[in-house]
Amino acid sequence: MKTNFDKKISSFKEQISQRIGEILAKKEPVSLYEPMRYALAAGGKQIRPVLLLLANEAVGGQTEHALNAAAAVELVHNFTLVHDDIMDNDDLRRGRETVHKHWDKNVAILSGDGLLVLAYQTLNQTTTVNLQRVMTTFSKGILKVCEGQALDKEFENRDSVPIDEYFTMIEKKTAALISMSCKIGALLGTENRDYILAVEKYGHLLGRAFQIQDDLLDVIADERVLGKNVGSDLQENKKTFLILHALQNASGANRKFLKEILSEKNISRQKVEQAIHLFAEMGTIDAAKSRVRHELEEAKETLSIIPDSPAREYLSHFLKILLNRNY
Ligand code: IPE
Ligand code: IPE
Ligand code: MG
Ligand code: MG
Ligand code: MG
Repeated sequence: MKTNFDKKISSFKEQISQRIGEILAKKEPVSLYEPMRYALAAGGKQIRPVLLLLANEAVGGQTEHALNAAAAVELVHNFTLVHDDIMDNDDLRRGRETVHKHWDKNVAILSGDGLLVLAYQTLNQTTTVNLQRVMTTFSKGILKVCEGQALDKEFENRDSVPIDEYFTMIEKKTAALISMSCKIGALLGTENRDYILAVEKYGHLLGRAFQIQDDLLDVIADERVLGKNVGSDLQENKKTFLILHALQNASGANRKFLKEILSEKNISRQKVEQAIHLFAEMGTIDAAKSRVRHELEEAKETLSIIPDSPAREYLSHFLKILLNRNY
């Protein structure tokens, strides 16, 4: 049976998809717009626009005034993914070929650029006295994603990275967009500074948890459910929460093995399996899980200053759903 939460999320997703469908409808040249539609058509969890609409409702806003902003953050998110898949050499996303694999890199670069511009255009259609502030928040968030992606790539070439640098990197590449989505939702619904700050912080903590969990799913998920290639981070020498935790705690032959796989690209399937096995044995998987739980608990606390309402409860419940996600 569908709960009220499920009904709310389904209704939001339907409205978001419909708006995105309108934005991407019937445009030429096909070689630009078809890949954009392809990137968006496979769906995805739509967590950023849903959070934007929930945050908006929780502070007293109206969905119809926040829908363009919701569509805009989903378009930007997909722009980051299309380019991210080129940067990470990934062939699979949401169970389908990535845009650069299905077409080629040039098509993926250009259709990614186009998604970014459409996102700005869509956000700019929002009717609010706060538009300038909303646009500034949006730009700042996207620039942080670029900074985070730059760090992510730089780290590939480093032997190791201190955990605080890892957190700076994920706060930029992932938490910034989620936090920005929540903040824009709030900006479109209230003038109350404390509420705006609270949902921004909620998004920030949720975003940190989300990326640690994404790192975790890269090693423990079922590829068919995840829709992405398992072990991709290990293949690309990514400095994930797991590899950094394992490096910090390993000694002897285990340490030597971890160092060895970090100095090699495209390691064999057997070495990927061996690394995953080692993560489990060393308690690295459990450490990642408990870190995710901890961050999500903190996120929940930030909501306490917002007046109680169904939407606030949904924001809280959303954390539980994320904690148990497997894709
Ligand atoms: C993937 O984001 C990129 C990260 C920030 C980890 P999502 O896991 O939200 O991707 P979709 O949109 O649901 O496919
Ligand atoms: C996500 O990092 C960050 C952005 C897309 C900006 P990942 O590279 O880990 O995301 P996935 O795992 O490919 O979805
Ligand atoms: Mg990636
Ligand atoms: Mg990446
Ligand atoms: Mg990942």
